[in-house]
Amino acid sequence: MKNRKLRKALPFFVSAIACALAISLTQSSVLGKVSGECSNCHTMHNSQDGTPVVRKGTGAAWSSDDGQITGGSVQDSPTGRLLVTDCIGCHSSATEDTIITLGDNKIPIVFNTNGYPSEALAAGNFYQVAQGAQYDGYGHNVYGISAIDSKLLQAPGGGNQCGGYNSSCHYTLAAPPNGENWYRGGCQGCHYNVFHHEDNNNYRFLNSHKGDMAYVEGVEDEFWEQPSHGGHNSYKGVIRDSDQHTLMSTQSISSYCGGCHRYFHQNDSITDGSVWLRHPTDIALPTDGEYAVYDPATNYNMEAPVAWVNPETPVREEAVVMCLSCHRVHGSEHPDILRWDYDNMIAGNGGDYADTGCFVCHTSKD
Ligand code: HEC
Ligand code: HEC
Ligand code: HEC
Ligand code: HEC
Ligand code: HEC
Ligand code: HEC
Repeated sequence: MKNRKLRKALPFFVSAIACALAISLTQSSVLGKVSGECSNCHTMHNSQDGTPVVRKGTGAAWSSDDGQITGGSVQDSPTGRLLVTDCIGCHSSATEDTIITLGDNKIPIVFNTNGYPSEALAAGNFYQVAQGAQYDGYGHNVYGISAIDSKLLQAPGGGNQCGGYNSSCHYTLAAPPNGENWYRGGCQGCHYNVFHHEDNNNYRFLNSHKGDMAYVEGVEDEFWEQPSHGGHNSYKGVIRDSDQHTLMSTQSISSYCGGCHRYFHQNDSITDGSVWLRHPTDIALPTDGEYAVYDPATNYNMEAPVAWVNPETPVREEAVVMCLSCHRVHGSEHPDILRWDYDNMIAGNGGDYADTGCFVCHTSKD
């Protein structure tokens, strides 16, 4: 009886599952949308029991799950979008945790104020670059976290894109919002438009001032690659031809970096047509030679991730080298925001560092 019922119900279940799957597949590319009580994040008058609510500034960070923002200072003046804190305050924690739970919400933490976390998320962490000028090379110097980079007064490879505007985001992300950076700067130099209440196609709110098509595509891991969950993101890449490969035409993560680091990405400055002049990105990872060993479709390696021509359906032939194959983006524990320590990349060293860094792809060079 039970069985028959089950059998009868099965086709329904199957189609229901297929349906749910189809919906989740079409939605899977973007998960970012907040839920939960408004008061976790908003304050209508910046006043509760007669005292101001907004807290931000140096050191503002979550003290625990379902806890409070501590540090920084309580602010008399309200903040934009009636929020209880700013980008940095809400995405920082004074704990070791890199995901803070607040009721129904999970907040991805990008800045652990007390130390570099063992569970840093995909973009890395701003902790190291916040430790003073000698660590400028360990991350993007971002307003509210670090001062302007002591060595890099513009984005390397950027070219003179915003002539005269020394505080534009192409020169520094550490200037306060002002007319030269279109009142963005800091986090919003890169996360130009944010949409916490929307699901849309913009991977991690990565977009620019270049209009509707200027956004990154990808499939977002729901735990932001927190190592203990073991999942990973799926980035968009393209296989280079003679075209321009701007963000507007490709939506690739490397074109996105190229928006500020132009000459590290555009065709005529990375190859002269016969040899590589700079390490290539947005090219297919060859399936032969020393590259044959690494099959990211079956054995994706976080030391050297790749992008995909179609992030929803990754296949080996369409694995693409990208900027994030070697770099983190917010910050890391290594100079040049690398994913690993470049000093360990020693050629012909008998395999001591096999499966790490450069050797994940260049398997014959160890
Ligand atoms: C009051 C808290 C709060 C503030 C303020 C805030 N965020 Fe968020 N943010 C969140 C939460 C919660 C999420 C997770 C949404 C989800 O579940 O994907 C999030 C997600 C993100 C993400 C990742 C999106 C994704 O796909 O998961 C980015 C990028 C981001 N925020 C940037 C910013 C920037 C830039 C600002 C300032 C303009 C900002 N946030 C301000 C709470 C906040
Ligand atoms: C987990 C944090 C969080 C919660 C909970 C939350 N919001 Fe927001 N909300 C944000 C952030 C961050 C922004 C500003 C950045 C943005 O627009 O993406 C925002 C922006 C807004 C905006 C202006 C932008 C827009 O999309 O229209 C409105 C209106 C808004 N929230 C209403 C609400 C209401 C109503 C609730 C409760 C039902 C709520 N929010 C709950 C984080 C939150
Ligand atoms: C909105 C502009 C902008 C975007 C987009 C951008 N960068 Fe940068 N980048 C800068 C600026 C400005 C500097 C120099 C100052 C600094 O280090 O913060 C820089 C510096 C760097 C450095 C050197 C860090 C150091 O201090 O030595 C690396 C590596 C880097 N970027 C990688 C990337 C990668 C990878 C991406 C894409 C995921 C990217 N950048 C996207 C503006 C940008
Ligand atoms: C130089 C550009 C840049 C700047 C500046 C920047 N971000 Fe990001 N951010 C990115 C990129 C690219 C990703 C996606 C990384 C990935 O998926 O590997 C990202 C991812 C995130 C995420 C998702 C968690 C993760 O690690 O993937 C959050 C949350 C976030 N950023 C918030 C912020 C906040 C808050 C600031 C300012 C303190 C900030 N970002 C500054 C480029 C930037
Ligand atoms: C194959 C690994 C690899 C890839 C891919 C890669 N980088 Fe780098 N990057 C490095 C290393 C290693 C350094 C250290 C300096 C050097 O060797 O040139 C570096 C340095 C940098 C710097 C700092 C330069 C300076 O003057 O201090 C920037 C900016 C940068 N990379 C941006 C990018 C961008 C943007 C992309 C994608 C278009 C990219 N990188 C792709 C490995 C890589
Ligand atoms: C994600 C895979 C990947 C990683 C990681 C990687 N490379 Fe490469 N590298 C490639 C590919 C693919 C090419 C281009 C091969 C071709 O010519 O088709 C290349 C080209 C090169 C070349 C130029 C070779 C030529 O034929 O002109 C050098 C040198 C090089 N890589 C060094 C490095 C170093 C050093 C590192 C670490 C800092 C590194 N690579 C990390 C995939 C990678």
